[in-house]
Amino acid sequence: MTVRIAASILAADFAALGDAIGAVERGGADLIHVDVMDGHFVPNISIGVPVVTSIKRIAKVPLDVHLMITDPDRYIEAFAKEGAAMISVHAEVLPHLHRTIHAIKDLGAQAGVVINPATPVASLVDIAEDVDYVLVMSVNPGFGGQRYIPRSDAKVREVRSLLDRARNPAPVEVDGGVDRHNAGRIVAAGAEILVAGSSIFHTPDPAQATRELRAAAEQGLPSPTLHE
Ligand code: DX5
Ligand code: ZN
Repeated sequence: MTVRIAASILAADFAALGDAIGAVERGGADLIHVDVMDGHFVPNISIGVPVVTSIKRIAKVPLDVHLMITDPDRYIEAFAKEGAAMISVHAEVLPHLHRTIHAIKDLGAQAGVVINPATPVASLVDIAEDVDYVLVMSVNPGFGGQRYIPRSDAKVREVRSLLDRARNPAPVEVDGGVDRHNAGRIVAAGAEILVAGSSIFHTPDPAQATRELRAAAEQGLPSPTLHE
């Protein structure tokens, strides 16, 4: 098991995105997490396809695009073509989730399903075999800088066990309120990708904050088995 850090640029200075991405890459970020919000599914509006096009040109690590929009089917092709390596869609807005997940895969991206804090893990039962990752929201989506909802640990465990029962090694990603104080216990619950915005970018040194977050997260990994 490994931990990947996905730096959420929602918390970065949009006038200096290139510098922000460079800093977290120096700090060892594995992914750049891009939050797309439409003002309908969530109360906020953020960024869209042209920003992905621009950051794809300069980012050295893959782009993890999180679509918080009511009609993701209309946009997945554009995000995939512009270079999103991972695209996640919310279960809450998709009556034909199976079709959407396979459409993302057919476009050559990894397909993730996101569930909000009030969405039951059971809603993933019939899609668990198909997903490349599951994103557990540990805050209600729409804004950075919110507090981690403690029940999310239990949810991560439930999703991990659901994926294991489906014999799917897909990682669990956690998004919202992740910092160096709770990262270890979220990883101990079974998360392998941690999204972090404020705890990385709202610090004087985002590269160092990325390193510290990874170190804290790795505390939650199972201790290596000793071989004789
Ligand atoms: C929230 C977004 C998150 C957000 C996380 O709706 O999906 O990715 O940027 O920000 P922090 O880490 O500040 O909670
Ligand atoms: Zn996100």
